[in-house]
Amino acid sequence: MPTLYDPIRLGDIDLPNRIIMAPMTRSRADADGVPLPFVKDYYAQRASAGLIVTEAIYVSRMAKGYVRTPGLVTDQQVMGWMQVTQAVHDAGGKIFAQLYHTGRVALPDFLPMRALPVAPSAIAIEGQNKTDDGPKDFVVPRALETDEIPGVASEFVNAAEMALAAGFDGVEIHAASGYLIHQFLDAAINQRKDIYGGSVQNRARFLLLVVDRVRDAIGDGKVGLKLSPRIKFNGVTEPDAEEMYPFLAKELSARNLAYLHGAKQGGYEIHSEMRPLYKGNYVAGAGFTAESGNAALASGAADAIVFGKPFLANPDLPRRMREGLELAEADPKTIYWGGEQGYSDYPALP
Ligand SMILES: Cc1cc2nc3c(=O)[nH]c(=O)nc-3n(C[C@H](O)[C@H](O)[C@H](O)COP(=O)(O)O)c2cc1C
Repeated sequence: MPTLYDPIRLGDIDLPNRIIMAPMTRSRADADGVPLPFVKDYYAQRASAGLIVTEAIYVSRMAKGYVRTPGLVTDQQVMGWMQVTQAVHDAGGKIFAQLYHTGRVALPDFLPMRALPVAPSAIAIEGQNKTDDGPKDFVVPRALETDEIPGVASEFVNAAEMALAAGFDGVEIHAASGYLIHQFLDAAINQRKDIYGGSVQNRARFLLLVVDRVRDAIGDGKVGLKLSPRIKFNGVTEPDAEEMYPFLAKELSARNLAYLHGAKQGGYEIHSEMRPLYKGNYVAGAGFTAESGNAALASGAADAIVFGKPFLANPDLPRRMREGLELAEADPKTIYWGGEQGYSDYPALP
């Protein structure tokens, strides 16, 4: 029976343990989307995870959805990430870049020439996003033209290639949390009449196009994918999740990815529903402790476990879990704001 502390191979990557650090946006990039110098310290401190997945990184200038978030678009950004991957590798760790396009979550404030964000359909999210001038309402996005869509998939390919150039061990495609790929999946958000809208197959087409283009570019074994069915975030409702996700599990099974990452949210029991349908490495996230993670591994419900919040204030989380040591709590005020404080200054235990 595997435990969190046993090794596993995910695609091309050998992990010394089954503890994965979840992708977590921390908003520590400069105005050009380059990670700040101490970002390498934060990730290197957490290199005892079997695998680190970075915060979400935007794949094009139109993909940026939040202040102070990083990209993988420019040479400067690649150079910035090189420092991070080098530091993690020097500390003995492995690191994947999480790639996303925020679609209708973006505001014109973050986009070139204050462009409207793009989305499957011209439907705004209710609510507000944060800017340096305070909160602002989400806007009605521009619906992508059919012939623009392959070009958006190419943005993921470019960013994946840049990720490898920056020294990442692979990429995780972010198809969760109500960002662009997830917007295509959701029947309430995607009201297109073309081959990217309507049936489950059509709404899944953009996701599968991105996955296949990225696999072709960098190899199956370096590609992970994150899904979060019915997450209560960014206006996701997914009226037919019970049809969409089994379809995706079957389609993705044929693709030999490094892993499928499910984050259980919103009442849909993704782990028990997806796991039996997905043939490949399944990594489970959201709400796990050492105890529940080990139980999930022992029962075969997952091959590895993803931990998010526990990594914020516990850089040496694998050791603390293994030895049953106390876990520190993160200061909520510095999660998305600030410099090194509340970020790279949480100490490891002596
Ligand atoms: C501060 C913070 C930032 C997050 N940013 C991202 C992100 O950039 N990409 C993503 O896929 N999920 C993001 N998440 C969700 C986590 O990856 C994870 O699914 C979630 O926190 C549940 O796991 P946990 O209970 O172990 O924290 C974020 C979560 C937190 C707490």
